[in-house]
Amino acid sequence: MPPSFELTWETEDRSFAAIEPDAALVARSAEQLRDWYNAHDNASMMEGSGVMSCDDVIEFWRELRASGGRGFLGFVDGRLVGDADLRSIHDGAAEFALMIGPAAEKGRGFGRALASIIHVFAFRELALSRVFVPPRRDNHRVHALNAFLGYERDESAAARAFADGPDSETYSLAAETFRAKHRAAWREVEVRP
Ligand SMILES: CC(C)(COP(=O)(O)OP(=O)(O)OC[C@H]1O[C@@H](n2cnc3c(N)ncnc32)[C@H](O)[C@@H]1OP(=O)(O)O)[C@@H](O)C(=O)NCCC(=O)NCCS
Repeated sequence: MPPSFELTWETEDRSFAAIEPDAALVARSAEQLRDWYNAHDNASMMEGSGVMSCDDVIEFWRELRASGGRGFLGFVDGRLVGDADLRSIHDGAAEFALMIGPAAEKGRGFGRALASIIHVFAFRELALSRVFVPPRRDNHRVHALNAFLGYERDESAAARAFADGPDSETYSLAAETFRAKHRAAWREVEVRP
């Protein structure tokens, strides 16, 4: 099992952190994550069941870790606001997923910042060459976020393998595209075990 990492990015007005949680931190956060995963606005965009229990949350995080995925809790100024992960990591590629949990915290730039941090980790630290996302066609927020990150439509067989069904479009982002577009994050995100 690789060591857990803490990723931080200090911007002019905010402090962002992505923490790879141990089992105790997952257990402490499970109730909050359950409520966010089950909220209609989130579940409908993440192919969630909407009826997860705390045990399901704990099992999701255990399984993510056991399968070689890298999951992070996202904090803004010390406050938990969501989570993100890189899953199905193999052959220099992975799938990315992100949630900003509370409705009141969406649309404030937190998704952009936390996604940037995780992509620095994916490309700079893990040296992946490409990351894939399979957003629903009607997920307007995430399409804007993906465009900001540098994702482009990708209908290749490798990309379609990540599709969640017929409503899901597939996009991918190459390491060099992200690095050229996000020089400040690339330089400034700090990674500590
Ligand atoms: C998708 C999600 C992660 C985006 O995070 P966020 O913090 O709300 O988004 P940000 O404030 O960082 O903004 C990201 C982009 O979305 C745009 N945006 C924000 N609110 C929007 C809205 N209501 N409609 C359309 N675009 C919107 C922003 O303008 C920005 O685009 P820009 O860079 O072109 O300005 C978040 O809304 C979320 O968790 N949604 C539910 C779960 C989900 O859909 N996850 C993704 C699939 S795994």
